[in-house]
Amino acid sequence: MTTTLHRLRQMKQQGQRFACITAYDASFAWLAATAGIEVLLVGDSLGMVVQGQSSTLPVTLTDMAYHTACVARANSSSLIMADLPFMTYSDERQALDSAAQLMRAGAHLVKLEGGAWLAPSVEHLRRNGIPVCAHMGLTPQSVHVFGGYRVQGRGSEAGQRLLSEARTLVAAGADLLLLECVPRDLAAMITQAVEIPVIGIGAGPDTDAQVLVMHDLLGIDRGHKPARFVKNFLHGEDGILGAFRAYAAAVRDGSYPSDEHCFSQNA
Ligand code: KIV
Repeated sequence: MTTTLHRLRQMKQQGQRFACITAYDASFAWLAATAGIEVLLVGDSLGMVVQGQSSTLPVTLTDMAYHTACVARANSSSLIMADLPFMTYSDERQALDSAAQLMRAGAHLVKLEGGAWLAPSVEHLRRNGIPVCAHMGLTPQSVHVFGGYRVQGRGSEAGQRLLSEARTLVAAGADLLLLECVPRDLAAMITQAVEIPVIGIGAGPDTDAQVLVMHDLLGIDRGHKPARFVKNFLHGEDGILGAFRAYAAAVRDGSYPSDEHCFSQNA
């Protein structure tokens, strides 16, 4: 079955979880779609895992359009979400021009990072027929503001602020939310509070979906220590297709993420 945003909403209403994985090229996109992964994210994480950069900041719109087109050519049934990279959506006009390039390359929706300040751009994109995912919590394009890749939304004031900003973006027309590295209780509260599907990464087991960077779930870490929320799904499987299927099954039955992959309010 082809995945649409309408289908993802239905899945939320029916309490069915779905899986998302990053994809940057045709071969892995084909494997992920064949494994039944509902959403392929052409993430700007490609700056780190494909280009060898130390952050996502150097990734350009041209890079993103190129990789989106590679993924789109091989996709069969998954929904393709593409990241707007750093400094390509600083106002509504720029957001629309940038998003149009990714949609022409084959994306079905775009993802942008930030909070309530994105509301006018979300509205503008939706008015022009472009669905949007709002990425909140730890937003890697702002790593230098955060002073590192740190858990966000700890403590009741920060948590309430994130919830309120999520509501603002939903009211502006966001189709999906993505929460990265937030305490599990906060992610559960936001997921309950909004009608649209919420995808989590390092956000505990109670979001409507999970996303992982493909290289992380295959244990390709170039010697770096994996983040706490990462699980290697290639262990015990006899190939990459098996690993992708095991990941999707674990997301759907709720066995991933487990306690060891979650952040609490304290540590
Ligand atoms: O770029 C990316 O891969 C992402 C995920 C970490 C959510 O945004």
